[in-house]
Amino acid sequence: MKRRDFLKNASVFAGVTLLPSSVWAITKNAKLRTAHIGVGGMGAEDLKSIASHSMVEVTALCDVDSNNLAAAQKLYPNAKVYKDYRKLFAEMGKAIDAVIVSTPDHTHAPASIMAMEMGKPVYCQKPLTHHVTEARAMRKMAEDKKLVTQMGIQIHSWKEYRGTAQLIQSGLIGKVHTVRAWSNKNWGYDGPVPTGSDPVPSTLDWNLWLGTSPERPYKEKIYHPGQWRKLLDYGCGTLGDMGVHIFDTPYTALQLDVPKTIMTQCRKPNGFAHPEHNVVTYEFPGTQYTANTLKWVWYDGPKAPKKHKELKMPKGEKRPDQGAMFVGEKGRLLLPHIGYPKLIVNGKFEEFKFPELEAVDHYHQFVDACLGKTQTSAPFSYAARLTESILLGVVANRFPDETLHWDNATQRFSEAGANLLLDMKYRSF
Ligand SMILES: NC(=O)c1ccc[n+]([C@@H]2O[C@H](COP(=O)([O-])OP(=O)(O)OC[C@H]3O[C@@H](n4cnc5c(N)ncnc54)[C@H](O)[C@@H]3O)[C@@H](O)[C@H]2O)c1
Repeated sequence: MKRRDFLKNASVFAGVTLLPSSVWAITKNAKLRTAHIGVGGMGAEDLKSIASHSMVEVTALCDVDSNNLAAAQKLYPNAKVYKDYRKLFAEMGKAIDAVIVSTPDHTHAPASIMAMEMGKPVYCQKPLTHHVTEARAMRKMAEDKKLVTQMGIQIHSWKEYRGTAQLIQSGLIGKVHTVRAWSNKNWGYDGPVPTGSDPVPSTLDWNLWLGTSPERPYKEKIYHPGQWRKLLDYGCGTLGDMGVHIFDTPYTALQLDVPKTIMTQCRKPNGFAHPEHNVVTYEFPGTQYTANTLKWVWYDGPKAPKKHKELKMPKGEKRPDQGAMFVGEKGRLLLPHIGYPKLIVNGKFEEFKFPELEAVDHYHQFVDACLGKTQTSAPFSYAARLTESILLGVVANRFPDETLHWDNATQRFSEAGANLLLDMKYRSF
């Protein structure tokens, strides 16, 4: 089913009238009534963080796992509970003001787009979407309807990262020609494709968990919870998981748009899971903060990164397990994930002044923006471009060692086979 048809059917199912965003407004001094989709794992954190704002009233909770739903309901007993977000929207459409989506990646776009169709502001976890076309569609809808949106990259608002972007833009290391970034996490799987099936736990609605993705038998410890990240149909591997955080600051600092070429070195595709080790090389068009072009190299897997002179640490210093190295004309800036940056010049750490900044809470910023008091720093207009860049690297892991050429204007690769992976067919469920 096409995304458009999914939404049409879903709106009919929901029986809701779709209102333009301008009609929606919060009355002065009224609380922001929130609906939370996915309330286990990171969703539980998102729920507490949003609810910690004094102007929030948690109004609806939704999860396909009744254990996670019960745990959330214990904390917010006045909220209505659902296992199907479509039913939540149908019944609570007029009683909610904003939606938080914290499900696995394949459900980000279906749930967020439906919420935005109804004119609701959306806080959606990272990566914004599972497929490139969904990212562009989310951006377009948010912009067309002028909705408040925020992607769940909470460290985007932290002082360490905002200050680093300022330092890079101030020319601390001159124009940047390369960024090398890495994560030693392993959200890939190189083993055999599982066979057979296990009984679906009585607490899990497997059909709703699969949502718009293809039907598949349930297997314990392979999909839910959390493990779905490793798999092509639901997640985006380590690059999609950690790359969104780690590449966010370079992306902001260097004011990048989407890349021109992408090449991944990894194992052959197995049609089921993302590779356990990836080296992804991107080339981005230059900006005022970069050389003529910017090279970005991503390394993931337990032994990442591979050795490289641009990653060499000062004598006796250990490289962080995850982070990014900006390489510029006048030196290098190491940005650990998570921490403050360190300047390396001629192989040694050098002192520098870090900008003085006020703390910002990424979640509260979203709530305050919904209340008309501020703007979000990672709206979908930004998040969609960052996510698209990341996802193009994820697509490239299906074409090892082949350089893919991306055309920003037509939103197509020059390589026909890769274009088939930009979208997904939505299942009716
Ligand atoms: N920003 C961060 O630091 C951060 C950290 C961890 C995870 N995440 C993101 O949060 C999202 C969730 O990751 P996770 O690790 O919590 O996964 P998880 O599998 O542990 O939890 C997902 C939750 O969503 C529920 N769920 C699944 N499908 C649903 C549906 N269709 N409707 C309602 N509920 C549904 C599950 O039952 C579970 O409670 C992912 O997008 C992930 O990338 C972000």
